[in-house]
Amino acid sequence: MYIQEVFIKHFRNLSDIDLLFHRQYNIIHGQNAQGKTNLVEALYYLSCAKSHRENAFVNLIHYEKEFALIRGVIHKHNINSKIEILLEKNGKRKIKIDENNTPASMLYDEFAAVIFYPDDLRIIKDGPEKRRRYLDVSISKINKNYKKALREYYRLLKHRNYLLLEQKKGYEELLEIFDEQVALFGAYITKKRVQYLAEIQQNIQKTHNEIAGGNEQISIRYQSAVLEKNTNTEELEQCYKMLLKEHFKEDSYRKITTQGIHKDDFHVFINGRFAKQFGSQGQQKTAAIALKLSEIELYEAHNGTRPIVLLDDVLSELDEQRQKRLLQMLYKTQVFITATADEVKKEFHKTEYALFHIQEGKVSQTVR
Ligand SMILES: Nc1ncnc2c1ncn2[C@@H]1O[C@H](COP(=O)(O)OP(=O)(O)OP(=O)(O)O)[C@@H](O)[C@H]1O
Ligand SMILES: [Mg+2]
Repeated sequence: MYIQEVFIKHFRNLSDIDLLFHRQYNIIHGQNAQGKTNLVEALYYLSCAKSHRENAFVNLIHYEKEFALIRGVIHKHNINSKIEILLEKNGKRKIKIDENNTPASMLYDEFAAVIFYPDDLRIIKDGPEKRRRYLDVSISKINKNYKKALREYYRLLKHRNYLLLEQKKGYEELLEIFDEQVALFGAYITKKRVQYLAEIQQNIQKTHNEIAGGNEQISIRYQSAVLEKNTNTEELEQCYKMLLKEHFKEDSYRKITTQGIHKDDFHVFINGRFAKQFGSQGQQKTAAIALKLSEIELYEAHNGTRPIVLLDDVLSELDEQRQKRLLQMLYKTQVFITATADEVKKEFHKTEYALFHIQEGKVSQTVR
């Protein structure tokens, strides 16, 4: 799939933008603070009604305007569709696909975008929270039940923690009833995360070799107190309940839920060694890119088309060889690249890219 055309009004500093894109590489260049990331953010927003850097959508509307509008024409399986998102300062949001009102959860089926930004390159190196988030965001996009289960789990967790904090008379019995549900959702989420990583594992080796240019062995392992008990997935729910029970004393003492999917992590190994601890910066970044690229392959395997890829400021973080290999690997994909200079164009043949210059929120297409 690719995005053929976009119209943007009052989205951050982008006042009035109407662009036709290239179906391969689109280079967006301009000085700092001109609106490059804003443009990429708007395209990403069209794919899932979420920003990669802002939770409250009203902040995406231009400071002095009452609404923001993003409209895109998507080409997929030889059919064009139109997605339109209207954000209003009063907190209302309207999403339409081909003029029909649509829930946000339906967007990704219509138009998928994978975004890379410098933070992503630290996914291996940073704490477990970032890796959990990576899993949750990636799985939620392809599995709506997972998203619901996650919401339910965190709702239950909040209540559970409240019971532990207050410790009112009879809270032990209440906890037991609660834990049935916590275990149900916790086990489901664990299972889905393990499955997702197993699917990623199938692609990641190939991708990693292509970027790293060598043949380092890469592997991923999900870390969870439940799985450490060496159980099969059928017994997960049972084990989950046991785990909560076993830690009841500790939880009561610490007044918080110490075990569960909200504490889990996954480990990446390069040549059998823990990449977070022993990997070089370059190895960690390569592994992070391979993780993200596997997401593209996975989407393609499920949907028969590739999502678009947004590369915001990531190329400058990679050495020249890795930059080249990454771009080559994406030749079948529509790619948007932001950069302060346009030198990346030398990587492409003249017919393969379009060049856009952005200044103070205004975009002009540069004639080659
Ligand atoms: N809601 C908003 N309304 C108007 N302007 C905004 C809003 N939010 C952010 N901006 C402005 O948008 C400008 C451009 O931001 P953006 O992050 O796109 O820059 P950039 O071109 O990616 O720069 P860099 O090269 O530093 O990454 C900033 O000056 C910022 O103040
Ligand atoms: Mg930027």
